[in-house]
Amino acid sequence: MAVIGILGHGTVGSGVAEVLLRNGNGIEKKTGTVLTIKKIFDRNSFPDLPYSHLFTRDISEVLDDPEIDIVVETMGGLEPAYSYTKRALESGKFVVTSNKELVAEYGPLLQKIAHQHHVEYFYEASVGGGIPIIRPLRQCLAANNIYEITGILNGTTNFILTEMRKKGKDFETALSEAQARGYAERDPSADICGFDAQRKIAILSSIAFGQKVLYTDINAEGISRITKEDMLSAEELGYVIKLVAHATRMGDGIYAMVSPIMLPLSHPLADVEDVFNAVLVRGDAIGDVLFYGRGAGKYPTASAVIGDIIEAANYQPNGNGTAAMQDEVSATVLEPDHFMFLYKFFLRLKTKDAEGFKKEVSASLPDARVHIFKNPLLDGEAGVLTGARSESELQGIRDTLASLDNTITVLSVFKVSE
Ligand code: HSE
Repeated sequence: MAVIGILGHGTVGSGVAEVLLRNGNGIEKKTGTVLTIKKIFDRNSFPDLPYSHLFTRDISEVLDDPEIDIVVETMGGLEPAYSYTKRALESGKFVVTSNKELVAEYGPLLQKIAHQHHVEYFYEASVGGGIPIIRPLRQCLAANNIYEITGILNGTTNFILTEMRKKGKDFETALSEAQARGYAERDPSADICGFDAQRKIAILSSIAFGQKVLYTDINAEGISRITKEDMLSAEELGYVIKLVAHATRMGDGIYAMVSPIMLPLSHPLADVEDVFNAVLVRGDAIGDVLFYGRGAGKYPTASAVIGDIIEAANYQPNGNGTAAMQDEVSATVLEPDHFMFLYKFFLRLKTKDAEGFKKEVSASLPDARVHIFKNPLLDGEAGVLTGARSESELQGIRDTLASLDNTITVLSVFKVSE
């Protein structure tokens, strides 16, 4: 039997409690493990819940209870989650978390503390919601030299972009809907500005590349500048705009970024919609492998947390322990131009005379393709798809296009993936 204390009864913590109470018998049949919640630490009380007697506002009732073997940290944020996690590990308790901020910031340190005390720090739910991705990376794919990870890692932004594209909703309405469904962070700017995906790609690449990747070294751009017209223009060209997180290992360095990208409809991530996440992993032995599932929400994330609880409950010393998350020495995250990393770029422009504009572009950027939009909502606009260029060349292209006689203004710019 494993005795559990939960820290934080928010979206994820309440999901864990509910699923454990609902599916406890089934879990016992499948795994032979009885999982019992002894205490739930939260500043609020929940008198109407059938398990209201489990709540406490006194953290020591969880951290100092020798009967509790597994602490589930679903509080989010750095403090007091960090101090409570450290105390729990130092008392020889396993800790299971969904807190990507904490894992991205202190994961290696907490894992080291866990190992010093012969326990483990489990964090499957910190990336990809319900998708099993951490365990496959550190166990099932360990034979591979993994050289690339590309993912849609934020459910909220993917939901918002899908609502904007499919239902023509404006950004604010779609965001409110994502918040009402419990997908968004307490401060939704973490989702919207790409910071949540930035932490998640740092966690994944640290495991996959075996080097500590600091999330603060990764350039992140969010989705707040994307308009309905951008969506329509991408669609007319056979693309979809997604917030993509990407990391590539190149020699001793790593290139990583989070950015809106236009993906062709044939791309494996193009069909990932709503709150779903997907992670495309490339390894030298396996080739491409795609992980797909619900990336946010109460029950999917609870599913991943409970998977870790079961692993903690069945932990064998020197048996199923997690590999050290990454070296203490940070990896070198390099600027894209260091590698001459090339993208095509798409620029949407307001033009005076579209045909005249097309002629001017073919004279000044011969490898660019110009599209004059047919959609009446994009009247007077043209799109330019450049040849493969490095990011540092973009400003020059933008200036060239802006200076043409038939250009009124450059409306938006996106990276394009093939
Ligand atoms: N806000 C996060 C998301 C929750 O939307 O993906 C899951 O980490």
